[in-house]
Amino acid sequence: MPDFETIDHDVLVIGAGGAGLRAAIAAAAENVKVGLVCKSLLGKAHTVMAEGGMAASLANVDDRDNWRVHFADTMRGGQYLNNWRMAELHAKEAPDRVRELEAWGALFDRTPDGRILQRNFGGHRYPRLAHVGDRTGLEMIRTLQDHAVYLGIDVHMECTVVTLFKDGDRVSGAFGYDRERGRFKVFRAKAIVLATGGIGRAFSITSNSWEYTGDGQSLAYHAGAVLQDMEFVQFHPTGMVWPPSVKGILVTEGVRGEGGVLTNKNGRRFMFDDIPENYRSQTADNEEEGWRYTQGDKNARRPPELLTRDHVARCIVREVREGRGSPHGGVFLDIAWIKAKLPNAAEHIKKKLPSMYHQFKQLADIDITTTPMEVGPTTHYVMGGIRVDGDSQMSTVPGLFAAGECAAGLHGANRLGGNSLSDLLVFGKRAGEYAATFARERGAVTIDKGAVDDASRFALAPLERAGNGSGDGPYQIQHKLQGIMQEGVGIVRRDAEMRKALDAVLAMEQEAERVSVPGNREYNPGWHTALDLRNLLTISEAIARAAIDRKESRGGHFRDDYPDKDPTYGTFNTTLSKAADGSMHLERIPIPPMPAELKAVIEENK
Ligand code: FUM
Repeated sequence: MPDFETIDHDVLVIGAGGAGLRAAIAAAAENVKVGLVCKSLLGKAHTVMAEGGMAASLANVDDRDNWRVHFADTMRGGQYLNNWRMAELHAKEAPDRVRELEAWGALFDRTPDGRILQRNFGGHRYPRLAHVGDRTGLEMIRTLQDHAVYLGIDVHMECTVVTLFKDGDRVSGAFGYDRERGRFKVFRAKAIVLATGGIGRAFSITSNSWEYTGDGQSLAYHAGAVLQDMEFVQFHPTGMVWPPSVKGILVTEGVRGEGGVLTNKNGRRFMFDDIPENYRSQTADNEEEGWRYTQGDKNARRPPELLTRDHVARCIVREVREGRGSPHGGVFLDIAWIKAKLPNAAEHIKKKLPSMYHQFKQLADIDITTTPMEVGPTTHYVMGGIRVDGDSQMSTVPGLFAAGECAAGLHGANRLGGNSLSDLLVFGKRAGEYAATFARERGAVTIDKGAVDDASRFALAPLERAGNGSGDGPYQIQHKLQGIMQEGVGIVRRDAEMRKALDAVLAMEQEAERVSVPGNREYNPGWHTALDLRNLLTISEAIARAAIDRKESRGGHFRDDYPDKDPTYGTFNTTLSKAADGSMHLERIPIPPMPAELKAVIEENK
């Protein structure tokens, strides 16, 4: 008797966050049979942790906004390594995707005249983030989930995919296990959309939830797809630093968007000390002007706290390193100061930032309406991922699509806050539609029995080695890896440290192949962690290799030994693929020339 259940879908979507749900909805609308796999429960996606809002040039708060400015902001934020076609489609289509979400029931905050309210975020020229207090991701998932359930999409909850299958060059299915009982599932599918999110769990300080172990990137890589831009990891400037048990949890940029300021232990607003040349003309040079900007004064320039995340995070690291940090190794983020400006400040803060208020009250016993928060950088997002075609989101493997954080391209070297939620909607929809078309136009697929046996052997190996394995267990290996990545390939990088980290990762790849886990297949988190290790190690190797190769500083990639941007590195994307001998092959692939119309858009917005 085969030890697995076989399930057939035309389109299989792996990952049920914003991108996965939107892809599944789009594919279902094309009348193909859709399956949606989620690693945890439906509705518990990491997208719910996206707080501040989704960027779209609705121009509800500032009528000077339009797709052209949004496109130019996104390209500048990404330091021009972006897939310009994706940046164009994103800027053009985001407003419709937000309005569609509203039509499906999302309840956004409103302007006084009843339109969707938009707030300021770093690197966006105008207030652009449609939001629901600081719970935007939650509202997005609630709305998409309701819609997907209404469409009758098949959902496979608490199921982790460990291998993709191919029929010739083309993807043909996936092998997974259900987390509760440990039973195997073989999904046969004519097209697959990967929407598994990010990689933050490879680092020790992260805002990412436990599911973010680089599954999609690694599954695609081992199936022969190309990864790109993996050196660009975003460290969000503001995560909690205290108490230790909650270190890394996100403190939304919305706090700064609502007027919050960053200060060091001397009470100095240190962000005024280092304003990059290319943002100088757009940045306020005094506190009063910055405040007026956050209150919607169209003639004021943005406060320096709303510079791009890479820059703000590095300024915080500088303050801490030079001894001007807060008691627990961060800096202060102060929204309470606005009581000097607004009579009803405490109520205003609770209304605009309800989750932040409760988060600090419950986790740190701090009332943010009276007391500054302590914050520091946290691993938040990976700009790199699966290389895809800008229009269709198909990877280099036919029939294998990717959307959202696990796909690369839109954000280049650094993502602007709020561009993630709109990315999920725009490219989730596109991936779902193109995957459905692919499934309809191409014939059925087969899955080789031998490939299923191999996948099953791989999955069972840690249990079968029980007692015979050597070295550390899965948790120790993951913990060790997190320390190595945080120290060696973290926010400030140097050649020797990255090489040391890479060597350690390669050694751990061997170690993970020997790992053993006690117990059986029924809900066994040790086994699940052992199976996540291949993904974590693959993407860690990719990050380290790409970071070593890029001998400059740009966006999320900052090197102490090469602190400047080097124009020769601004012409290509770093790609990684699996060579015939199983090793990781790095290549620099030139960025295609941008069409004249888009160049003109960038010029007009300089
Ligand atoms: O700060 C935040 O609310 C995060 C948003 C984002 O990463 O887009």
